[in-house]
Amino acid sequence: MEKKFKRTLITTALPYANGPVHIGHLAGVYVPADIYARYLRLKGEDVVMVGGSDEHGVPITLRARKEGITPQEVVDRYHTIIKDSLEELGVSFDIYSRTTSKLHNETASEFFRHLYDKGEFIQQTALQPYDEKGGEFLADRYVVGTCPRCGNENAYGDQCEACGSSLNVTDLINPRSALTGEPVKMRETTHWYLPLDKWEEKLRSWILDGHKEWKSNVYGQCKSWLDAGLQPRAVSRDLSWGVPVPVEGAEGKVLYVWFDAPIGYISNTKELLPDSWETWWKDPETRIINFIGKDNIVFHCIVFPAMLMAYGDGFQLPDNVPANEFLNLEGDKISTSRNWAVWLHEYLKEFPGKQDVLRYVLTANAPETKDNDFTWADFQARNNNELVAILGNFVNRAVVLTHKYFGGTVPATTAFEPVDSAVWEDMQKIKGALTEALDTFHFREALKQAMEIARLGNRYLQETEPWKVAKTDMARTATILNTALQLCANIAIAFEPFLPFTCGRLVKMLGGGKLSWDMLGSSDIIPAGTGIAPAELLFEKIEDATVEAQVKRLQDTKKANEVAAWRPEPQAEDVDFDTFCRSDLRVGTVLECEKVPKADKLLRFLIDDGMEKRTIVSGIAKYYKPEELVGKQVCFIANLPPRKLKGIVSQGMILSAENSDGSIVLLAPSAPVAPGSKIG
Ligand code: 2FM
Ligand code: ZN
Repeated sequence: MEKKFKRTLITTALPYANGPVHIGHLAGVYVPADIYARYLRLKGEDVVMVGGSDEHGVPITLRARKEGITPQEVVDRYHTIIKDSLEELGVSFDIYSRTTSKLHNETASEFFRHLYDKGEFIQQTALQPYDEKGGEFLADRYVVGTCPRCGNENAYGDQCEACGSSLNVTDLINPRSALTGEPVKMRETTHWYLPLDKWEEKLRSWILDGHKEWKSNVYGQCKSWLDAGLQPRAVSRDLSWGVPVPVEGAEGKVLYVWFDAPIGYISNTKELLPDSWETWWKDPETRIINFIGKDNIVFHCIVFPAMLMAYGDGFQLPDNVPANEFLNLEGDKISTSRNWAVWLHEYLKEFPGKQDVLRYVLTANAPETKDNDFTWADFQARNNNELVAILGNFVNRAVVLTHKYFGGTVPATTAFEPVDSAVWEDMQKIKGALTEALDTFHFREALKQAMEIARLGNRYLQETEPWKVAKTDMARTATILNTALQLCANIAIAFEPFLPFTCGRLVKMLGGGKLSWDMLGSSDIIPAGTGIAPAELLFEKIEDATVEAQVKRLQDTKKANEVAAWRPEPQAEDVDFDTFCRSDLRVGTVLECEKVPKADKLLRFLIDDGMEKRTIVSGIAKYYKPEELVGKQVCFIANLPPRKLKGIVSQGMILSAENSDGSIVLLAPSAPVAPGSKIG
């Protein structure tokens, strides 16, 4: 039998405050969590949604070092950007806090100390990479070396970004410190470990027997961790940024970021509800739901639950962890460091008032069961073909017709004909499917069902044709438009979790009554006689030029990344001196230069080589205007066999260099020389 809960605590993964949030974070965590929170509130349930920034850990210190600022400055900057942009997107947090807060530090510290005092940790000494010059232990990310798999010389101690392999520091060939460049030494250090093996059986029966209803990607990942057998995990690190380990003799050690971050959920609840937070964590009638991305599954389903079990004192485990897969962007993995992302704060600036369009597209395309791709073409198509053409169009027709025939007042229904009753039967089916999808975290499906109401409305108007009926039968017209307006009110309810801004405007347009989920499916939400506002377009078309500009920006980013990643070609095999000397390299002066007809790339040169006039054809037309080159000196190979290009006999080859972006630059002497001068 299903358990009955009194309240729901929704938590959202705390984003690292080392950069702004992007569409991957939104699709994976914040949009689905917000849909769920809004849905429960609309049902009148007791809900709290907590979030905050993850401000500890190596990603923050790496960013600080890169920019030459302090970690505190990094997190202050990004926490503000993240908090403001999520709020502007309408993510309805009850609290969005941060892990550098005093309350969080105290809470995390107390949590560790409680486990320490209970004897829940084991203390172990292990070898860790150490930078003797810098005088500090190095996090795995701070160790670089050669990847044993692909030979990349700049692989990190935890991962090679060239071939994607996960690595251990000890796998790297010639490991060196990313901070000082010095070879890394291994040195002994002591840490506290949480023996996950101790909790393995309990975790196994809690998840594998007790939560078969979890999403298959989550259940499957948990099963493979549990089947592989759990090991003790270090919960402290040798770092200067973080919550200090509250034990004597632990100077220079902080809590591992993955120990303190999930405790952030507790401290955020405490900050929001100082007097009642324990009800939200310890009462078995509270349901806890963790919204996260797939890379966080092990921490939320294994590590944090083991921490809560070890703490005891009534802490409840999550009831569900509906983790999403990843969202890619235009076919490539989203990456903060490669700037391959659509950043929320930038989107909000560039698409003002279009929060709901992004929320819609990210939900319609949510990576619920597999990785998915965001493309600007899909963004445009869903806006134009779905939001504008289906949803906006239906509401607009219903409201405009009501103004035309009834002066903007909701007309009264007289009698239902079968076509009207059929609408409400269909509406019941939609309500059932929509509710079921929301209850089981299938938000893509839920959105599809909500859209069915608008499709139903369009079909209904098409079938009943009130603009024709109005010529002869106003009573019937009244019933039709009443039905259409009641469908609009149903839309305002069904879409509220997904498109809160649009629904706010729609409710106002319809006279502003208070709506709730239990009204969904009803045919008399807006009383007859209610005055409705003039029609206002809920969505507008997005033009080609708008999305083309976004695609162009991504292409520029890709180009810039390629240039940044460019390395000179490795040196070619040796040639002996005599072979080299047989190449006759010379300087010549350009007498004539013109484009070769019907060949985009080619220029024809006439060169004074000191003895005669020589024709050379060269493939540099993309990079030089022919008239700019007349009178200039160029370098060329004189003794190549003649070659025919587009019907022209080329007597040699002009020397050029290929730049990191693929562009071509001609070589020339640094001062004028006599034409025909030899190079050597
Ligand atoms: O993966 C991440 O971005 C982490 N900062 C998520 C932390 S979730 C929680 F445990 F706080
Ligand atoms: Zn590699």
